[in-house]
Amino acid sequence: MSDGPLVLGIETSCDETGVGIVRGNTLLADAVASSVAEHARFGGVVPEVASRAHLEAMVPTIERACETAGIRLDDVDAIAVTSGPGLAGALLVGVASAKALSIGLGKPLYGVNHLAAHVAVDQLEHGPLPEPCLAMLVSGGHSSLLKVEDVTVGVDPLGATIDDAAGEAFDKVARLLGLPFPGGPHIDRVAASGNSVAIDFPRGLTARKDLERHRFDFSFSGLKTAVARWVEAQQRDGVTIDVADVAASFQEAVCDVLTRKAIDAATTYGIEDILIGGGVAANSRLRAMATERAEARGIRVRVPRPGLCTDNGAMVAALGAELVKRGRAPSALDLPADSSQPITTVVA
Ligand code: KG4
Ligand code: ZN
Repeated sequence: MSDGPLVLGIETSCDETGVGIVRGNTLLADAVASSVAEHARFGGVVPEVASRAHLEAMVPTIERACETAGIRLDDVDAIAVTSGPGLAGALLVGVASAKALSIGLGKPLYGVNHLAAHVAVDQLEHGPLPEPCLAMLVSGGHSSLLKVEDVTVGVDPLGATIDDAAGEAFDKVARLLGLPFPGGPHIDRVAASGNSVAIDFPRGLTARKDLERHRFDFSFSGLKTAVARWVEAQQRDGVTIDVADVAASFQEAVCDVLTRKAIDAATTYGIEDILIGGGVAANSRLRAMATERAEARGIRVRVPRPGLCTDNGAMVAALGAELVKRGRAPSALDLPADSSQPITTVVA
């Protein structure tokens, strides 16, 4: 274990079968097989299709990861797996596979929280996490602000979305605009040629009255409805919709609220480092705006590269390695897949 523990991480909470291998903070392999193309025609992830795809992809993805890392399975010090939150059937495939490896190899098993893994992955790119740090996780299923003292022990939720997740809003608005699923990357691309101040879309939960109860919470469903109404009104008037302008103005509204609240939370708690994770952290405007606004207030921003922001096995392995390094107790072998594992439970 000269450079840290060698850990294999498995991620199957949604539509990506991810197998990552790390040694300490060093990424050795990050194999991902996605079933996203199989869900595209449904406009969203179909759980049963995702589970079946995980089952088919699991063994080849493990083999590919080992080959890339240049290791044999019995070299690993521990197996880590996402135990929740996520789609129950999809999680089950990963958890069952991890248990089989753990028993077969005689290595400890860590069932970890998907969101904590999105935080821990940044260690692979930027080194040990600043403690404390303010983590903003924005994905297809979650939008949360978390105070993180030690990611292996627990996180302190400060706020979350009260309706749609940020990624969900991107996906729904993309659908409205006739862009393919998942919509986030398409909005990002199309928005680059649009005018971000063309339409003044609402910023959810930023009015004075909302700040009293929901200062660090988010709401994106009103924004999604506002975009829908705007598009309908244009269509009614027979006006051709400028997709780039709508995408850019929508993206600006989301990024404005996310960065404002993250910086407000960091400032309130005296935290000097913001970490952004989850699929939406791949958004180019969010990365630029957060960095610019935070730096103006002396706050540092860390965002992993886009490939590590979306779901992958490396993030699970990264958290697993940190757990081993800090001597945290592994999970029991009757570890369940918990589709609603709370953010406060890092190891199940
Ligand atoms: O973390 P993730 O891969 O899966 C979940 O745990 O949900 O996040 C997927 C979400 C999708 O909603 C997708 O549209 C969004 O992240 N996303 C983006 C971008 N890339 C992925 N949203 C905005 N801009 C992007 N570049
Ligand atoms: Zn995720």
